Amino acid sequence: MSDTLSRITLARRPKGDPVPEDFKLETGACPSPAEGDVLIEVTHLSLDPYMRGRMDEAKSYAPSVDLGGTMTGQGVGRVLESKADDFAEGDIVTGMTGWASHACLPGSELRKLDPSLPPSTALGVLGMPGLTGWVGLHSFGKPKKGETLVVGAATGPVGSMVGQLAKQMGLRTVAIAGGDEKCRLATDTFGFDAAIDHRAHDDAKSLRAAIADAAPDGVDIYWENVGGKTLEAVMPLMNVHGRIPLCGMVAWYGGSNIATENQLPGMWRNILVKRLQVSGFIIFDHWDQYPAFLKDVAPKVAAGEITYIEDVATGLENAPDAFIAMLKGGNTGKQIVKL
Ligand SMILES: NC(=O)c1ccc[n+]([C@@H]2O[C@H](COP(=O)([O-])OP(=O)(O)OC[C@H]3O[C@@H](n4cnc5c(N)ncnc54)[C@H](OP(=O)(O)O)[C@@H]3O)[C@@H](O)[C@H]2O)c1
Repeated sequence: MSDTLSRITLARRPKGDPVPEDFKLETGACPSPAEGDVLIEVTHLSLDPYMRGRMDEAKSYAPSVDLGGTMTGQGVGRVLESKADDFAEGDIVTGMTGWASHACLPGSELRKLDPSLPPSTALGVLGMPGLTGWVGLHSFGKPKKGETLVVGAATGPVGSMVGQLAKQMGLRTVAIAGGDEKCRLATDTFGFDAAIDHRAHDDAKSLRAAIADAAPDGVDIYWENVGGKTLEAVMPLMNVHGRIPLCGMVAWYGGSNIATENQLPGMWRNILVKRLQVSGFIIFDHWDQYPAFLKDVAPKVAAGEITYIEDVATGLENAPDAFIAMLKGGNTGKQIVKL
């Protein structure tokens, strides 16, 4: 067993989009587990858009990462040593390990994984992003057969879960994705009825015309992952009593363009006159539904009825570059780092 721990820390707070200098690779001694703790060797790390928000000092639904602190995140790993009941050396577990080669966590904060499934699925299709799509679609999207759903970041772990579930429930599904390759994945791999490349449209008006062609009966559910040009394009196409699960707004996570790129007055007027339901939700409030999600979705993943794609970077030292690229669409599928 290695007695050296490597970790990626927050070296400084980013101004706008993060850059490599905002991160630092540090090494130190590996911790020893106290009574009730488990020492894990991390094998897979999840990179998620929400981590951008944790790099800021701004008040949010979860605390910021301290300067010099380990970047926050969920990992999967192998138990090296356990001083907690219910865990033994060799178990494969998941928990909030941070961007690090090893983590020492209380057993109460870990979950043992089903060894019949690839461990990385606990970070994507059968983890937090998959649960987000499943909970949000059922609870806030309230899909009905025959309706039309539009989702951005459609080939990512959230968007692809939403699209596949909605299609299976008899909705028309329209993907918004970045580039030809992702549009092909959306239709051929994830079964969307149509896919539109947002990067091929310079402005919201042009993107709106393409969405209108793909959604001739208007939009009943706009699953909001991205904000920006896509939100502006979709709003006027919403049908009366449409629903907008407000899951994320990754186009704005860089922060510098929030005040200039959107046209909030017009968008909010659409919400009013069409009596739309816009539901913000954070998945932390819905973990109680995780067993029901797994019961429903895990067999579908095993049977190939729900498919998934992972984009795997190798080596902890490459986590910052993979994260920076993901925020600009450089990933295809769930971004994982294999250690
Ligand atoms: N509310 C919650 O509890 C919760 C939980 C999980 C995730 N989320 C949110 O859900 C969204 C999707 O998460 P994910 O994990 O599935 O991420 P993801 O799709 O793997 O990664 C982000 C994707 O966003 C797209 N993107 C980036 N900049 C964009 C822009 N300017 N315009 C349009 N699309 C852009 C890119 O895809 P393209 O190349 O296709 O554009 C990129 O690959 C994020 O906003 C995330 O914060 C919220």
